[in-house]
Amino acid sequence: MPDDRAAHLRVLRRRGHAVDAHLVSATARLTPALPAPADIDGIAVTTLATTRAPQAERQLYRLQGDTVADNPGFADRLPDFDTWRAEALGGEGFRAHWVLLAEHGRRIVAVTAVRATPDPHTGHVDHTAVERPWRGRGLARALKLHAARRLFDDGLRLLHTEVEAANAPMLAVNAALGYRPGPGHHRTVKTL
Ligand SMILES: CC(C)(COP(=O)(O)OP(=O)(O)OC[C@H]1O[C@@H](n2cnc3c(N)ncnc32)[C@H](O)[C@@H]1OP(=O)(O)O)[C@@H](O)C(=O)NCCC(=O)NCCS
Repeated sequence: MPDDRAAHLRVLRRRGHAVDAHLVSATARLTPALPAPADIDGIAVTTLATTRAPQAERQLYRLQGDTVADNPGFADRLPDFDTWRAEALGGEGFRAHWVLLAEHGRRIVAVTAVRATPDPHTGHVDHTAVERPWRGRGLARALKLHAARRLFDDGLRLLHTEVEAANAPMLAVNAALGYRPGPGHHRTVKTL
Protein backbone atom coordinates (compact mmCIF):
# COMPACT_ATOMS: atom_id res chain seq x y z
CA MET A 1 0.00 0.00 0.00
CA PRO A 2 1.40 3.50 -0.82
CA ASP A 3 3.02 5.00 2.28
CA ASP A 4 1.08 8.27 2.12
CA ARG A 5 -2.23 6.72 3.20
CA ALA A 6 -2.14 7.11 6.99
CA ALA A 7 -5.92 6.68 7.39
CA HIS A 8 -5.91 3.37 5.45
CA LEU A 9 -2.99 2.14 7.51
CA ARG A 10 -4.80 2.96 10.78
CA VAL A 11 -7.80 0.92 9.60
CA LEU A 12 -5.59 -2.03 8.65
CA ARG A 13 -3.83 -1.87 12.04
CA ARG A 14 -7.17 -1.88 13.85
CA ARG A 15 -7.99 -5.03 11.86
CA GLY A 16 -4.88 -6.80 13.08
CA HIS A 17 -2.42 -6.06 10.26
CA ALA A 18 1.16 -5.15 11.14
CA VAL A 19 3.66 -3.26 8.99
CA ASP A 20 6.58 -5.60 8.27
CA ALA A 21 8.33 -3.46 5.66
CA HIS A 22 8.40 0.17 4.58
CA LEU A 23 10.13 0.35 1.23
CA VAL A 24 11.13 3.64 -0.33
CA SER A 25 12.00 3.87 -4.02
CA ALA A 26 14.96 5.88 -5.27
CA THR A 27 16.45 6.72 -8.64
CA ALA A 28 19.86 7.90 -9.76
CA ARG A 29 20.90 9.38 -13.09
CA LEU A 30 24.07 7.94 -14.58
CA THR A 31 26.36 10.49 -16.14
CA PRO A 32 29.89 10.51 -17.58
CA ALA A 33 30.92 12.56 -14.51
CA LEU A 34 30.66 9.62 -12.10
CA PRO A 35 33.61 9.74 -9.68
CA ALA A 36 36.26 7.04 -9.70
CA PRO A 37 35.62 4.37 -7.04
CA ALA A 38 38.07 4.27 -4.14
CA ASP A 39 40.51 1.36 -3.96
CA ILE A 40 39.86 -0.76 -0.90
CA ASP A 41 42.92 -2.52 0.54
CA GLY A 42 42.86 -6.27 -0.16
CA ILE A 43 39.83 -6.14 -2.45
CA ALA A 44 39.60 -7.04 -6.14
CA VAL A 45 36.44 -6.16 -8.05
CA THR A 46 35.10 -8.70 -10.56
CA THR A 47 31.71 -9.77 -11.88
CA LEU A 48 29.81 -13.04 -11.78
CA ALA A 49 30.71 -13.42 -15.47
CA THR A 50 34.47 -13.11 -14.89
CA THR A 51 35.09 -14.30 -11.33
CA ARG A 52 37.46 -17.17 -10.63
CA ALA A 53 36.24 -17.52 -7.07
CA PRO A 54 35.39 -21.19 -6.42
CA GLN A 55 31.68 -22.01 -6.30
CA ALA A 56 30.83 -18.35 -6.78
CA GLU A 57 27.07 -18.91 -6.81
CA ARG A 58 27.26 -20.90 -3.56
CA GLN A 59 29.39 -18.12 -2.07
CA LEU A 60 26.75 -15.56 -3.04
CA TYR A 61 24.07 -17.69 -1.41
CA ARG A 62 26.17 -17.85 1.78
CA LEU A 63 26.70 -14.05 1.66
CA GLN A 64 22.99 -13.46 1.21
CA GLY A 65 22.21 -15.79 4.13
CA ASP A 66 24.77 -14.09 6.37
CA THR A 67 23.56 -10.55 5.64
CA VAL A 68 19.83 -10.78 5.04
CA ALA A 69 18.89 -10.40 8.71
CA ASP A 70 20.74 -7.05 8.83
CA ASN A 71 18.36 -5.58 6.27
CA PRO A 72 15.56 -4.11 8.38
CA GLY A 73 12.13 -5.24 7.29
CA PHE A 74 13.27 -8.41 5.58
CA ALA A 75 10.91 -10.84 7.28
CA ASP A 76 11.12 -13.83 4.93
CA ARG A 77 13.54 -16.72 5.36
CA LEU A 78 16.06 -17.36 2.60
CA PRO A 79 14.72 -20.15 0.34
CA ASP A 80 16.79 -23.24 -0.50
CA PHE A 81 19.71 -22.76 -2.89
CA ASP A 82 17.94 -23.81 -6.11
CA THR A 83 14.92 -21.58 -5.49
CA TRP A 84 17.13 -18.66 -4.48
CA ARG A 85 19.35 -19.22 -7.54
CA ALA A 86 16.38 -19.23 -9.92
CA GLU A 87 15.11 -15.96 -8.44
CA ALA A 88 18.36 -14.09 -7.78
CA LEU A 89 20.55 -15.38 -10.62
CA GLY A 90 17.97 -16.04 -13.30
CA GLY A 91 15.00 -14.59 -15.12
CA GLU A 92 14.74 -12.21 -18.01
CA GLY A 93 16.60 -9.21 -16.61
CA PHE A 94 19.50 -11.21 -15.18
CA ARG A 95 22.95 -10.23 -16.47
CA ALA A 96 25.96 -12.04 -14.95
CA HIS A 97 28.26 -9.12 -15.88
CA TRP A 98 26.02 -6.74 -13.91
CA VAL A 99 26.55 -8.71 -10.71
CA LEU A 100 29.57 -6.88 -9.28
CA LEU A 101 31.64 -8.77 -6.72
CA ALA A 102 34.25 -7.71 -4.19
CA GLU A 103 36.74 -10.50 -3.57
CA HIS A 104 39.29 -10.90 -0.81
CA GLY A 105 41.55 -13.72 -1.98
CA ARG A 106 39.10 -16.33 -3.25
CA ARG A 107 36.31 -15.25 -0.91
CA ILE A 108 33.43 -13.11 -2.15
CA VAL A 109 32.86 -10.51 0.59
CA ALA A 110 30.42 -8.12 -1.09
CA VAL A 111 28.00 -7.94 -4.00
CA THR A 112 25.80 -5.46 -5.80
CA ALA A 113 23.47 -6.90 -8.42
CA VAL A 114 21.67 -4.96 -11.14
CA ARG A 115 18.97 -6.28 -13.47
CA ALA A 116 17.88 -5.11 -16.88
CA THR A 117 14.34 -3.73 -17.16
CA PRO A 118 12.03 -3.45 -20.19
CA ASP A 119 13.43 0.08 -20.69
CA PRO A 120 16.89 -0.39 -22.27
CA HIS A 121 18.20 2.73 -20.51
CA THR A 122 17.02 1.82 -16.99
CA GLY A 123 18.42 -0.78 -14.60
CA HIS A 124 17.07 -2.04 -11.31
CA VAL A 125 19.45 -2.56 -8.37
CA ASP A 126 18.32 -5.85 -6.86
CA HIS A 127 20.45 -6.08 -3.77
CA THR A 128 23.71 -4.99 -2.22
CA ALA A 129 25.41 -6.79 0.65
CA VAL A 130 28.75 -6.56 2.44
CA GLU A 131 30.04 -9.13 4.94
CA ARG A 132 29.99 -7.73 8.46
CA PRO A 133 33.79 -7.57 9.01
CA TRP A 134 34.15 -5.52 5.81
CA ARG A 135 31.49 -2.93 6.56
CA GLY A 136 32.13 0.75 7.21
CA ARG A 137 35.18 0.91 4.88
CA GLY A 138 33.40 2.34 1.85
CA LEU A 139 33.06 -1.05 0.13
CA ALA A 140 29.37 -0.75 -0.75
CA ARG A 141 29.92 2.74 -2.10
CA ALA A 142 32.97 1.68 -4.16
CA LEU A 143 31.21 -1.40 -5.56
CA LYS A 144 28.12 0.59 -6.52
CA LEU A 145 30.35 3.15 -8.24
CA HIS A 146 32.10 0.38 -10.19
CA ALA A 147 28.65 -0.88 -11.18
CA ALA A 148 27.42 2.59 -12.16
CA ARG A 149 30.41 3.21 -14.45
CA ARG A 150 30.04 -0.18 -16.12
CA LEU A 151 26.30 0.33 -16.56
CA PHE A 152 26.85 3.77 -18.06
CA ASP A 153 29.26 2.22 -20.56
CA ASP A 154 26.61 -0.41 -21.34
CA GLY A 155 24.11 2.33 -22.25
CA LEU A 156 22.12 2.71 -19.00
CA ARG A 157 21.21 6.23 -17.93
CA LEU A 158 18.93 5.61 -14.94
CA LEU A 159 19.08 3.27 -11.96
CA HIS A 160 16.09 2.43 -9.85
CA THR A 161 16.05 0.73 -6.46
CA GLU A 162 13.98 0.20 -3.34
CA VAL A 163 15.37 0.45 0.18
CA GLU A 164 13.83 -0.22 3.56
CA ALA A 165 13.20 3.18 5.19
CA ALA A 166 15.07 2.08 8.35
CA ASN A 167 18.19 0.92 6.49
CA ALA A 168 20.40 3.89 7.43
CA PRO A 169 23.69 2.59 5.93
CA MET A 170 22.13 1.76 2.55
CA LEU A 171 20.30 5.09 2.45
CA ALA A 172 23.59 6.87 3.26
CA VAL A 173 25.42 5.04 0.46
CA ASN A 174 22.66 5.78 -2.04
CA ALA A 175 22.42 9.46 -1.04
CA ALA A 176 26.18 9.82 -1.54
CA LEU A 177 25.77 8.35 -5.04
CA GLY A 178 23.06 10.84 -5.98
CA TYR A 179 19.94 8.69 -5.54
CA ARG A 180 16.78 10.78 -5.09
CA PRO A 181 13.96 9.31 -2.98
CA GLY A 182 10.63 8.60 -4.68
CA PRO A 183 7.32 7.10 -3.60
CA GLY A 184 7.29 4.35 -1.00
CA HIS A 185 4.95 1.64 0.15
CA HIS A 186 4.16 -0.34 3.30
CA ARG A 187 3.95 -4.10 3.25
CA THR A 188 1.53 -5.35 5.87
CA VAL A 189 0.92 -8.85 7.18
CA LYS A 190 -1.83 -10.40 9.23
CA THR A 191 -1.36 -13.72 10.98
CA LEU A 192 -4.48 -15.85 10.55
C1 LIG B 1 24.10 -1.60 3.62
C2 LIG B 1 25.50 -2.20 3.45
C3 LIG B 1 25.60 -2.88 2.09
C4 LIG B 1 26.54 -1.06 3.54
O1 LIG B 1 27.84 -1.61 3.31
P1 LIG B 1 29.19 -0.82 3.75
O2 LIG B 1 30.31 -1.37 2.94
O3 LIG B 1 29.34 -0.86 5.21
O4 LIG B 1 28.85 0.65 3.28
P2 LIG B 1 29.89 1.87 3.14
O5 LIG B 1 31.03 1.64 4.07
O6 LIG B 1 30.21 2.07 1.70
O7 LIG B 1 29.01 3.10 3.58
C5 LIG B 1 28.20 3.03 4.73
C6 LIG B 1 27.70 4.43 4.99
O8 LIG B 1 26.61 4.33 5.91
C7 LIG B 1 26.86 5.22 6.98
N1 LIG B 1 26.20 4.62 8.14
C8 LIG B 1 26.49 3.45 8.75
N2 LIG B 1 25.62 3.27 9.77
C9 LIG B 1 24.79 4.34 9.79
C10 LIG B 1 23.71 4.73 10.61
N3 LIG B 1 23.28 3.95 11.60
N4 LIG B 1 23.09 5.90 10.33
C11 LIG B 1 23.50 6.68 9.30
N5 LIG B 1 24.54 6.36 8.49
C12 LIG B 1 25.17 5.20 8.73
C13 LIG B 1 28.36 5.27 7.11
O9 LIG B 1 28.77 6.43 7.81
C14 LIG B 1 28.75 5.31 5.63
O10 LIG B 1 28.58 6.60 5.07
P3 LIG B 1 29.87 7.56 4.83
O11 LIG B 1 30.79 6.81 3.94
O12 LIG B 1 29.27 8.77 4.19
O13 LIG B 1 30.44 7.79 6.18
C15 LIG B 1 25.81 -3.23 4.59
O14 LIG B 1 25.53 -2.61 5.83
C16 LIG B 1 25.00 -4.52 4.49
O15 LIG B 1 25.43 -5.48 3.84
N6 LIG B 1 23.83 -4.57 5.14
C17 LIG B 1 22.98 -5.80 5.13
C18 LIG B 1 22.33 -6.03 3.78
C19 LIG B 1 21.49 -4.84 3.36
O16 LIG B 1 20.80 -4.23 4.15
N7 LIG B 1 21.55 -4.53 2.06
C20 LIG B 1 20.81 -3.42 1.51
C21 LIG B 1 19.47 -3.82 1.02
S1 LIG B 1 19.51 -4.42 -0.62
